[in-house]
Amino acid sequence: MSVMYLRGGTPLEGELAVHGAKNSVLPILAACLLAGGPVVLHNCPRLTDVGAALGILRRLGCKAEQEGHTVAVDPSGAAGCSISEEQMRAMRSSIIFLGPLLARAGEAHLTYPGGCELGPRPIDLHLSAIRAMGCRVSEERGIHCQGRPRGGEVQLALPSVGATENAMLCAVGASGPTTIANAAREPEIGDLQSFLNLLGARVRGAGSSTITVEGGRPLSGGEFTVMGDRIVAATLLSAAAAAGGRVRLSGVDWRHLATVLSVLHQAGCRVESRLEYVELERDRAVPLRAVPTIRTAPYPGFPTDAQAPVMAALAASQGCTLFVEAMFDSRYRHVPELIRMGADVTTEGRVALVRGVERLRGARVEASDLRGGGALAAAALGAEGTTILSGLSHIDRGYEGLEEMLQALGANVERREA
Ligand code: UD1
Repeated sequence: MSVMYLRGGTPLEGELAVHGAKNSVLPILAACLLAGGPVVLHNCPRLTDVGAALGILRRLGCKAEQEGHTVAVDPSGAAGCSISEEQMRAMRSSIIFLGPLLARAGEAHLTYPGGCELGPRPIDLHLSAIRAMGCRVSEERGIHCQGRPRGGEVQLALPSVGATENAMLCAVGASGPTTIANAAREPEIGDLQSFLNLLGARVRGAGSSTITVEGGRPLSGGEFTVMGDRIVAATLLSAAAAAGGRVRLSGVDWRHLATVLSVLHQAGCRVESRLEYVELERDRAVPLRAVPTIRTAPYPGFPTDAQAPVMAALAASQGCTLFVEAMFDSRYRHVPELIRMGADVTTEGRVALVRGVERLRGARVEASDLRGGGALAAAALGAEGTTILSGLSHIDRGYEGLEEMLQALGANVERREA
């Protein structure tokens, strides 16, 4: 087992290009099942979740390899229509293969996906979208879906990111047009739309609440570059807010970070947003300030994935900040660990009250989910003394070489075998 040693107290300084977005590359890899020829993807992060998605593609008969940040997928040998329980459990996003499998094979046999670390994560919206396209779904001992999808009207009860992507992917292979109403508007859905259209699909409306898909067009292969990861950027900016210093990040569109940047600005950081980069500066001698209530919401609201990292920064601040986690039931698992570091936080259901303290102290802490892990690293860099962070398998699902990214910004961090 490896652990991360983080020595706090040094301001962060430097520039970094943020790696590709996990939440973009995973649905794009599932979409490769629909391609009519080889696909090459650039800017693919090296993450365990990406490895899991490549493993699913291989099980389904595709060639799928990653070399550095380039992934090559050849779907010409794709044949199967079932995914093993072990592969389904490896990550929540395995469910995104449902739509493409149905579109390609007219049949899919899966189990419930893993990823329960944020509380219950149902898939009812995914299944109702599939049903709206004329497929039959049975949930007896697994998930068994059958039928060639037909275009239809998909009305999502909530703007679920995954259900929107699954519906888009199924609709691309369906006969006839589909409309997805109350679609999620996250930027990664726009990336998926661009990829599908590059292959020859006709998908419109990503970024708005209504997405239309003209199904059944023949698709080719193609070459595509995955967008940068806005949540990795939010984590690094939170670390700089916690530790002080000046960091400049490129490779992400600052507009996708607008709510996070606004909060960090209100907390007293100087933020400069340009087309090519976003820069954050904080004088470590001047404490951060509490900010008005942070309520997570679907995009363009404050991202639930940035809640923990921003809380880590505000744990040492002047005043009280209230967080309302409106997206997931159990997304405060970093709080007991922040408390070990001297934070003063009280939670009640989906609400957390952060009473800012003067400074956190290094401690032994454990990540129990992906973004909570990123948050603990950010907190550690603002703290006095050394933090020993375990639970790195969660972090490696979504941050490629977090310690190397932080080192590049001058942080005193190393990964060691425990
Ligand atoms: C995606 C992101 C994740 C992010 C989340 C919310 C990926 C790979 N993951 O997850 O990082 O935290 O969006 O921005 O892109 N829901 C249902 N039934 C369903 C599906 C969802 O009730 O069938 C609920 C969920 O419990 C949650 C809400 O809808 O309360 C939003 O979840 P959703 O947008 O689906 O999240 P994911 O796609 O799983």
